Amino acid sequence: MHRDFDEIIDRRNTNAENTDGFRDYLFRDRPGLKLPWRDEELIRMWVADMEFGVAPEILDAIRARLDRRILGYTGIFDDRYYDAFRAWCRRHYDWEVPREQICLSPGVVPALFLLTGLICAPGEAVLINTPAYCQFRRAAEYAGRPLLCSPLVRSASGEFVPDFEDLAAKCADPRCKLLIWCNPHNPTGRVWREDEQRRVAELAERHGLWVISDEIHCDLLRQGQTHTPLGKLMPDYPRLITCMAPSKTFNLAGLGMSNILIRDEALRKRFHSRDGVFGSVNPLSLAGAEAAYELGEPWLEELRAYLDGNFRLLSDFLAEELPEAEMQLAEATYLAWVRLGDCLPDVEDLTAFFAQKAGVLLEAGDGLFVGNSAGYVRLNLAMPRSLLQQGLNRIRDAIRAHQSAN
Ligand SMILES: Cc1ncc(COP(=O)(O)O)c(C=O)c1O
Repeated sequence: MHRDFDEIIDRRNTNAENTDGFRDYLFRDRPGLKLPWRDEELIRMWVADMEFGVAPEILDAIRARLDRRILGYTGIFDDRYYDAFRAWCRRHYDWEVPREQICLSPGVVPALFLLTGLICAPGEAVLINTPAYCQFRRAAEYAGRPLLCSPLVRSASGEFVPDFEDLAAKCADPRCKLLIWCNPHNPTGRVWREDEQRRVAELAERHGLWVISDEIHCDLLRQGQTHTPLGKLMPDYPRLITCMAPSKTFNLAGLGMSNILIRDEALRKRFHSRDGVFGSVNPLSLAGAEAAYELGEPWLEELRAYLDGNFRLLSDFLAEELPEAEMQLAEATYLAWVRLGDCLPDVEDLTAFFAQKAGVLLEAGDGLFVGNSAGYVRLNLAMPRSLLQQGLNRIRDAIRAHQSAN
């Protein structure tokens, strides 16, 4: 079946973060910022959800659950969801996940916030790579724990790689207790190779660190790429937690259901102790997540092909229209990490610049990616190609207009 990823779907008046929440998130520090665009004119390439309709198989399952008409308190008491997720991991990653390790969370982020406080005592630090998904920093801030940052660097061929010397030194810091590892990496799009991950695993083991491997983007691989869960390379390491979810893969973030795989039994118990407050499951989310893992594969394959096409479009566009821009093709995710520092060397706040001058919402710089991000923008490409083309044209025009005025 051919899915219509070209369809433009109206999200207004759905209280979507993407359409209605951008001021709070992107311009928190500039509350009075005025944009010379109506909201509906903006091209939104920011928050990591997609402008594509959810797979019909998933919507049908949610509708079928609605047709049962009663939406009372819900948990997961049978095996169906666990079987579906475990089979997914087996099929896609040749990875066996023991059922008892699967804990549910309304999101990866709430789990990160909770786990950081559970794992690190006061004064014990969280280590991340920069640039980073900014909620990693917020998890440390929320728990009141110090943050250590190890920058990614560019290899001779231009790809982002860990600075292993720096990473080893930070892992050896006596305060360091928890490494939050992101694979595939947001925002660079790197899918860490096995040899890179083995070096990280070896450091974690040597220093007895806890590791949260955030693998939320792992299903969204460019065609031909493979993802190796860190858990496969550390099969017996008890201090490993892996985060995976149908939310990014199937555009279900609003349903709030993520898998947090916790090996250590004592930590699992402490994690579950918050279930009295947050433990119930939304029955529509459960129906959607089951259908996603059971039936979503063909849709995902088509989505991946479409995203590959959008990345080709971006890459060709940059080569032809903005040759000063620099980009390594993301190996996964629908996020492109593009260096525009040479196009706009005098512009400090690229997020505000593109919102004002191009009517394009995107995320840029150290404020949103913790550090090591000056001059970079992150573009969300998960949108119909015609919109993407418009967004890119507007970005180019704003850059050229600024260059000729200065
Ligand atoms: C690396 C990473 N982790 C977690 C999340 C969000 O997770 P959730 O919506 O499950 O809280 C995102 C969203 O962009 C992300 O990029």
